[in-house]
Amino acid sequence: MAERVRGQRLAPSILSADFSRLGEEVERVVEAGCDIIHFDVMDNHYVPNLTIGPLVCEAIRPRTKAPIDVHLMVRPVDALVPMFAKAGADIISFHPEASDHLDRTLSLIRDQGCRAGLAFNPATPLHYLDHVMDRLDLILVMSVNPGFGGQSFIPSALDKIADIRRRIDEHAARTGSDIWLEVDGGIKPANIRAVADAGADTFVAGSAIFGSPDAGGGYRGVVGRMRDELAAPLAAQGRAA
Ligand code: DX5
Ligand code: ZN
Repeated sequence: MAERVRGQRLAPSILSADFSRLGEEVERVVEAGCDIIHFDVMDNHYVPNLTIGPLVCEAIRPRTKAPIDVHLMVRPVDALVPMFAKAGADIISFHPEASDHLDRTLSLIRDQGCRAGLAFNPATPLHYLDHVMDRLDLILVMSVNPGFGGQSFIPSALDKIADIRRRIDEHAARTGSDIWLEVDGGIKPANIRAVADAGADTFVAGSAIFGSPDAGGGYRGVVGRMRDELAAPLAAQGRAA
């Protein structure tokens, strides 16, 4: 039970926000109790979609004090890192398949003053973690294939989350440094608790938040439902302790 009080950060993905009034959307999700702004960057090369870049990051930066969590789904990676750092990113994650030199890219992100994250697609093996744990501030587990919002959660992600949680805890016991475990794709009130129970501490949600039926009245409703799920005692969930 003590593990449950590990961080429980909600990170709305602005991919599903109304881009015609993005600044306001960012303010509204933070007012509703979200912790981090998840910023999906797609290049029509590493993934088959095209989204937003450093100029948009720079534009929303003054609208919130919440950390901006840039998820790079791009190849190559390195040239964009200083651009996003300059645009106000706090966290920058990338996919290991998209960089020829993992260690170099991770070091570059920290050298630019940001926290560094590594993102794992559903079929990406975890051996990429083997020699870089001390370079990481965050591990991002994709529970959908990257490229689009609104896809369904892939259940095998739960085993992967549990596996990474063991590695993070072992690393923390040995070094004293914490690494966030973020999960991205298909998260909603109905499954966020299972994701937390598997070991995640940071939850990305795009369509579930920005597309919620009561979104017109603000995002407090859906954010509250997610927080309630995370806080509910095990018995209320019908799970064994
Ligand atoms: C997918 C993106 C996700 C996505 C999440 O490639 O990395 O951040 O926008 O959206 P939902 O929560 O709708 O799956
Ligand atoms: Zn993402």
